[in-house]
This record gives sequence, structure tokens and C-alpha cells, in this order.
Amino acid sequence: MFDGPSPILALAPMQEVTDLAFWTLVHGYGGADVYWTEYFRVHSSSTPETRILNAITRHTTGRPVIAQMIGNDPAELVRTAKILQQYPVAAIDLNLGCPAPIVYRKCAGGGLLREPERIDAILGALRDAVQIKFTVKTRLGFASPDEFDRLLSIFAKHSLDALTVHARTVAQMYRLPVHYDRIRQAVETMACPVIANGHVHSAAQAQQLLTSTGARGLMIGRGVIRSPWLFNQIRQQLRGEPVTQPTGRDVATYIRALWDTQASLATVEKKHCDRMKKFLNYLGEGVPGPFLHQIRRSETAADFHRICAEFLDHDEPMALLPAEMKAEMALN
Ligand SMILES: Cc1cc2nc3c(=O)[nH]c(=O)nc-3n(C[C@H](O)[C@H](O)[C@H](O)COP(=O)(O)O)c2cc1C
Repeated sequence: MFDGPSPILALAPMQEVTDLAFWTLVHGYGGADVYWTEYFRVHSSSTPETRILNAITRHTTGRPVIAQMIGNDPAELVRTAKILQQYPVAAIDLNLGCPAPIVYRKCAGGGLLREPERIDAILGALRDAVQIKFTVKTRLGFASPDEFDRLLSIFAKHSLDALTVHARTVAQMYRLPVHYDRIRQAVETMACPVIANGHVHSAAQAQQLLTSTGARGLMIGRGVIRSPWLFNQIRQQLRGEPVTQPTGRDVATYIRALWDTQASLATVEKKHCDRMKKFLNYLGEGVPGPFLHQIRRSETAADFHRICAEFLDHDEPMALLPAEMKAEMALN
């Protein structure tokens, strides 16, 4: 999986976003080379969530899937990894980055980064137990990017099969800057492939990031919610071809498909609109005018679709950039 000639393009794990329906939708736009599951919560009484197992067994992307776990108890993580590796997954991944207070206060996800010795013990136990590939997805540290030096020396001890680096600290949440120089450091330190993650939003920037870090691939999350065309655009860019931009009508068709993915999860109209806002909070940043402002206030299907038609019924190309990039371009 990590040995091919081209950079690997991975869809990031995103709780309550990257489910089976979203994988299928993204696959229809060219898709990722590899899909990470939402995390399986691991504790003393946990069993792997059926919903996520179904995504593993029922997806039709034809691409490898990596099962991610979050937890802090070596024995429980080993127990769960042994179950998960019986499913058709290419690797077992450990989450060392979730910044949600409810998670990190329990010393799981990003919270573990404050306890490097515990990480050492967990990686040792999992490396022994996992017969298939074993990977880690980490942030740079809890409070400071300088914590990464120590963490890297621990990761390097455990024969990982890949390391994904989301180049922010836990304390940073999703704020800029992303410390891409630390990804380069990981590439230079680790024997395994390193996947770069954080704020990838355009094909040109993706290519530049691959070059500047030397990473084996890119993992992209919110950029793909914003634009499922992004993976294919990056492939075009890397082949030296012109990058195709979606039009307003293409974006409207994508939003309609997203709407359909939520239909079975929200039967009440207002709830359906609310679920869509989770996606459109990202995508809407890339639509000029008061589109997002109006979408956030929509409560009926009729309203929601009327707003989409009003702003997206056109053939102009759309770059679908995040808000901070648009602000930066306006300044330059
Ligand atoms: C809604 C949401 C849910 C997420 N859930 C997970 C998760 O389950 N596991 C994980 O490792 N990271 C999770 N992340 C972090 C992403 O995988 C990724 O590291 C982060 O969004 C940065 O990449 P991006 O800038 O390309 O979005 C989540 C992020 C978002 C926005």
C-alpha cells in the first residue's frame, strides 16, 4: 500500500463524517487511495462499533481501509486490535491527536501526548500484537511543537509501518500555523513512510507540500468535505496536467448527493438541514456572498435547496478555498 510509485492520497478519519456513505460519495469523484475509519473507542467494556465495522465490510471503493482505535489501556487496545485485524483492513492505526477535551482529559487521543512513557508502552504492546501493518496518527505534541523531538524518538523505536503527522499541537486545535517543517523532520527521522496532514486545500499547495516535506503521501480531511474533486485535482497537478475546477452546478450536484447521504439519518426536515450544516460549514466558506450565512439559518428542505439554487446555479469555476486562504489572497 505504501510502496507504489505515486504519493499516497488518504482520506482523513473524521468522526460522524467519514462513514460508509461519505466514502462512497468521495469514491465517485475519484476518491482516495486509502480510507481511514472513524475511530473505534477502546475501553474496558468496549466492543468495536457495528456501524464502523459495516463500513469496513460493505464499502465498494476497492481501496484499502485502515481501522483506527482511540484509547489508553495497552491491554484493551491489544484486545481490540486482535478483533479488528480479523476484518478486511490493511492496517491498525492508533489515534494520538484528538483534541476534544472530553477525549484528551481521559488521557486518550491527543491527551496521551502528555505521557510519552505511556505511548511507549502502548506502541510496544500493539507492535507485538498486530500481525498486519500498524500505523500511528499523531499531532506534534500537547502544548508545544518542541515536544515532537521526544515523541519521534519513541515512534522510531517501534517499527511502525507508517506515521501520519498532523502538524499542529493539541492546544492549537485547528488554528494556523501548521508546522510543516516538523513533517520534514519526521521524514528524516523515521524509517517508515510519513504521511503529511493538515490544511491541504488545493492541488498546487499539495504538490508544494509533498516537495518541501518529502512525505510519502498526503492525508486530507476538511479539504475533501469542501471539495471532493481535490484528490483528482492533485493527481492532475502531479501529472503536470491542467487542474479541472468544478462549476457552481457541479457543486450543487455534490451538495444534493450529500443531502441524500443524510436522508436515512434525519427524517425531520430541520434535523436534516442541521446535519447538512456540519458539511456546509466547510464547503460554504468557498462560496462567495452570504451563502453560508443563509444556509446556517435554513430550517426547511425548501429553504435549503432554494439557497443552493440561488448561489450555485451557474457555470463559473469554483476554487472552494477555506476562508483564511481567501482572506490571504485578498491581502496579496
Ligand atoms: C469533524 C472532524 C472529525 C475528526 N475525527 C477524527 C478521528 O476520528 N480520528 C482522527 O485521527 N482525526 C480526526 N479528525 C482530524 C482529521 O483527521 C485531520 O487530522 C484534521 O482535520 C486535519 O486535517 P485537514 O486540515 O485536512 O482537515 C477529525 C477532524 C474533523 C474536522
